[in-house]
Amino acid sequence: MKNLGVNVDHVGTLRNARGEKHPDPLLVAKQAINFGADSITIHLREDRRHIKDEDLIKLSKTKIPLNLEIACNYKMMKIALKYNPNFVCLVPEKREELTTEGGLNLIKNYKKIKFIIKKLNKKKIRTSLFINPTIKDIKYSKKINSNCIEIHTGKLSSLIKEKKNYKNELNKIKNCAKFAKALGLEVHAGHGMDYKTTQILAKISEIKEFNIGHFIIGEAISVGLKEVIRKIKKSIKK
Ligand code: PXP
Repeated sequence: MKNLGVNVDHVGTLRNARGEKHPDPLLVAKQAINFGADSITIHLREDRRHIKDEDLIKLSKTKIPLNLEIACNYKMMKIALKYNPNFVCLVPEKREELTTEGGLNLIKNYKKIKFIIKKLNKKKIRTSLFINPTIKDIKYSKKINSNCIEIHTGKLSSLIKEKKNYKNELNKIKNCAKFAKALGLEVHAGHGMDYKTTQILAKISEIKEFNIGHFIIGEAISVGLKEVIRKIKKSIKK
């Protein structure tokens, strides 16, 4: 059985566009779980562009299985240790990027990441590293003692969307998933996924969890439009 983590960051993006309280990431998180999601992912970015500390505090008080994505630094580590989410995924973070563009540089940040993972493991928080699909990064993830890896599927997703040949990238992901599972790492995947990417990646039996955000939230806007228009029209008619 594969698990689905729903990333609600972009509910925060939409809310922040007006600086008010609607739509509410907490409410959407509860609904996502009611509709069958297995966990909720939030990325507390250092610039707080979508999810804010308040969102993390509220979500951490619920029973919702929470996956917190954070940049690899001690300040964010302390926040994670304080709010004790079920899972933490370390991700690279650049202020100027629109989204998490690639996997972690495990060699450059080896000592720091190992220390942060040790602290989180000690608190029994399930740990994960967001990495590119390379055997080298999987070997490093194992050396770092992470419980899981999350394979960045951004490149594969773009190739599929642009109708380009994606075989090589898919094979890389397949091989990495097999290799990681054989080493005892739990394998997750995410970034840029939509219906088609999900169908393709779901065939890889070693992947245990998908984390999907932008597409689910974006798609929910058009799928949910019918009911909202119906309600507003009903009010107008009164
Ligand atoms: N997994 C990780 C580690 C991420 O950083 C992100 C994006 O924040 C996602 C999954 C979800 O990506 P998307 O919003 O493109 O579905």
